[in-house]
This record gives sequence, C-alpha cells and structure tokens, in this order.
Amino acid sequence: MTDADRTHDVVVWGATGVAGRFTAEYLTERYAPEELSLAVGGRNRGKLDALVDDLTRRSDAWDDVPVVVGDATDPESLRAIAEDTRVVCTTVGPYTAYGTPLVEACVDAGTDYCDLTGEVNWVRETVDRFHEAAVDSGARIVHSCGFDSVPADIGTLLVQSFAAETFGAPCETVRIYLEGGSGSVSGGTLASFGELFEAAATDPLARETLRNPYSLAPAGERSGVDPGQQRRPRRDPLRGAWTAPSPMAPVNERVVRRSNALLGYPWGREFRCSEVVPTGEGLRGAATAGVVAGGLGAFTAAMSVGPLRSALRRYVFPDPGEGPTREEAEEGYFQIRVLGRGTATEGPFTVEAEFGADRDPGYGATARMLGESAVCLARGDVDSPFDGGVLTPASGIGLPLADRLREVGFTAAVGEAGDGGR
Ligand SMILES: NC(=O)c1ccc[n+]([C@@H]2O[C@H](COP(=O)([O-])OP(=O)(O)OC[C@H]3O[C@@H](n4cnc5c(N)ncnc54)[C@H](OP(=O)(O)O)[C@@H]3O)[C@@H](O)[C@H]2O)c1
Repeated sequence: MTDADRTHDVVVWGATGVAGRFTAEYLTERYAPEELSLAVGGRNRGKLDALVDDLTRRSDAWDDVPVVVGDATDPESLRAIAEDTRVVCTTVGPYTAYGTPLVEACVDAGTDYCDLTGEVNWVRETVDRFHEAAVDSGARIVHSCGFDSVPADIGTLLVQSFAAETFGAPCETVRIYLEGGSGSVSGGTLASFGELFEAAATDPLARETLRNPYSLAPAGERSGVDPGQQRRPRRDPLRGAWTAPSPMAPVNERVVRRSNALLGYPWGREFRCSEVVPTGEGLRGAATAGVVAGGLGAFTAAMSVGPLRSALRRYVFPDPGEGPTREEAEEGYFQIRVLGRGTATEGPFTVEAEFGADRDPGYGATARMLGESAVCLARGDVDSPFDGGVLTPASGIGLPLADRLREVGFTAAVGEAGDGGR
C-alpha cells in the first residue's frame, strides 16, 4: 500500500469526544480541504454526522468532512481505517482499555499514528509489542502528542539543539519547570487516570513501569544514573528556590529519557531529566511546596485504594464525554521553562527554553499540539532519523512541530540563560 493509494491524510479518530472534537475543529479552522484531506471517525454515525454539520456550519472552506465509522473493539474496522489513511490521530481513551488494536492495525498497515496518551504502562506495552514491527513496516507510532508530553519533550529538544549548536556539547542535566497554568480536566482524562491506577494495583508490570525511571527506554537499556521523579518539597539545585513534585513528571520524564535513548544518546548516557513545580523563595515557597506535594500525595493515596478509587470514579469524577466548552477550551494558559546545564571546553553553560500558550493546556492547546503533530507526519514535515517505530514527539517529529506551533501563537523560544537572546 503506497501513500498515494490512501484516501485520507488524517483521520481524527474519537472526534465525537471532548479532545477529538476540539482537534477536528482546530484542523478545519486552520486548513482548507485542498491543503488537508481530513476525515472524522468514531463508533456512532449519528454523533459523527451531527459533528460534521457543526464543523461545516462554522467553516467557509469545508462543505463536507468525510466520516469513517468503526469500533475500537473491532480490529477489522480499524484495519480498514488504517489502510486508507496516512495518519490516524486518535483521542479514543483510556488507551489502556481501547488503544492496542488501533496501534496494531496502524503497524500492520504501515500507517503513521499520533495520540494523547499519558498512560505510561500502556506506552510500555506498545514499545515492547510493536516497536520492531513498526520499524519494519514503516509506521511512525508517536505517543503523547498533547500537554503530556510535547512541551517537556520538544522543550528539551530545543534546549539540547541550541546547546549543541552554540556550545558544541549537550546539557547533562535538564530541569523542566511547570511554572504556571490554568485549565480544566475532562471525564475522559480522569477515566484514563483511573485506568492507570487500576493497572498499578493489579498488574506487576505496570507497577514496575511506574517504579523504574527508565521503563520506556528500549529493552536492555532500562537502567541509568537518573534517580527519577521528586516526591517531596525540595530546594532547587539549579535556581535555589523551593519546588514541589509535578503531577506530569511520571510521564514527561520517561518520555524525554526515551527520546534520548531512541536518538542514540546524543545527550549522554549520564543525562538527567526532572520535572517540578516551582513554588518560590523563603517560608512561603516552602509552605506552598508542602501544600502542592501534600495534595498530590493525598490524590495518589486515594486513587491507590481500590474502594476509594471506585467511589471517586463513580460519584465524583465527571463521566467520559464531559469536559470544557469550546469557549472554556480557548481560555486559560500554560507556561513551562526548561533549563539545561552543560559543560563545554570553555566552561559551564546554561540554556533556557520557554514553551507556552494562551489556551487551556489540556484542550485548546492540546488540540493544536495533536493536530499539528498529525499534519507534520502527513506532510513528512519532520526532523527525525526514523521511518518507523514507537516514537516520542522529539524523536519522531522534532523541531518542525515547534515551528508550526509558533505559527499558531505558541511561545517556543530558546537561548542562553539570562542573555535576553530568546
Ligand atoms: N495529554 C493531554 O494533554 C490530554 C488532554 C486531553 C485528553 N487526553 C486524553 O485523551 C483521551 C480522550 O479524552 P477525552 O476527554 O476526549 O475523552 P472522551 O470525551 O470520553 O472521548 C472519548 C472518545 O472515544 C470514543 N470511544 C469510546 N469507546 C469507543 C469505541 N469502543 N470505539 C470507538 N470509539 C470509542 C468516544 O466515542 P462516543 O462519543 O461515541 O462515546 C469518544 O469519541 C483520554 O485518554 C485523555 O486522558 C490527554
């Protein structure tokens, strides 16, 4: 099957859900049908037709958007979609529950793929089951193309590329600071959290994946010097002020380490990467770090107890399909700073990147990150040594994604720390 035989450049699979709808809206706003052959997919024809009515009503350019119907539990339907598409862009989650047959179909058909998963246990499964087959078939399977883990992974790539060009050496240490953000959480995201904790409670391999900082590295390379995520308030070794654990560190740190491993360790085997929430100086900074760490610890503890987890999922979390409105998704913001420290022959250096957007990080901003990841793959607008494999945003797409996101209002800036050159 050559690319020329395929009908669609991109199928947004799960387009009737919260994140899928925003991604389809974004792509039909940003691209005309002559520029992108787009289809929307899901399991419910009626809901998909209603979505297409809405998309075409809101757009001058799109009179129609093709619909593909299938079911995440019906491999034949997924095979047909994968074979007729250049890139399947999927928001059908929890991925642990629904994702594997689609990855398998894309790998078999040599079809590129991107998703929004933060379920590291599931990524580990696809790495172990499909990486070699994806290399052979030429399917680029790029996980975590949303708020997890594009800012952290592409932010680190910006820092390391700048360090290599400017200083001729990589940063041995990268710190990712989740400096600020405001946004919402959908029922689908909370259901995915639920699946992750369920897996951690019942599956020893999932527990090992969450324990080992290198669990997403290629098999045989799952150890190293990096101690893994911060669990308590701590003074920052690079900046001095207080920091708390970041809720996204378990995903983002492992994705960044996988990028380094896949790319052949350009940042060194001793490379260390950590993500934290900075909380400021003095007593106030320490107290805030304590509150953030305590809140995260309490949530983790509650989700780790079976009956409490079931009660939260049943009575407290919104249902899958519930989430922010279009207006809410276009509000909010996030800002991430990535600091890298390295040593060149002239001495030590520090590089700094900023990555952010003025939209809800998990929805308005994520729709753009995922949509542009799909467009990069569909157009071959990637800077990657790989034609196939289970990849990360940095290793499978690279800096062209930052360029595209800048064009749609993201900050993705890098320079020597403190030199104003960003
Ligand atoms: N990384 C990030 O920043 C980020 C941000 C947002 C979301 N996410 C992740 O994205 C995923 C989706 O979140 P969401 O809030 O959009 O969830 P959602 O609103 O529940 O949407 C889920 C979608 O999956 C579809 N679906 C469910 N079962 C299916 C099946 N058997 N076959 C085909 N389609 C099926 C649903 O179809 P129906 O409409 O027919 O029910 C819906 O379109 C979650 O895993 C979430 O964690 C990640």
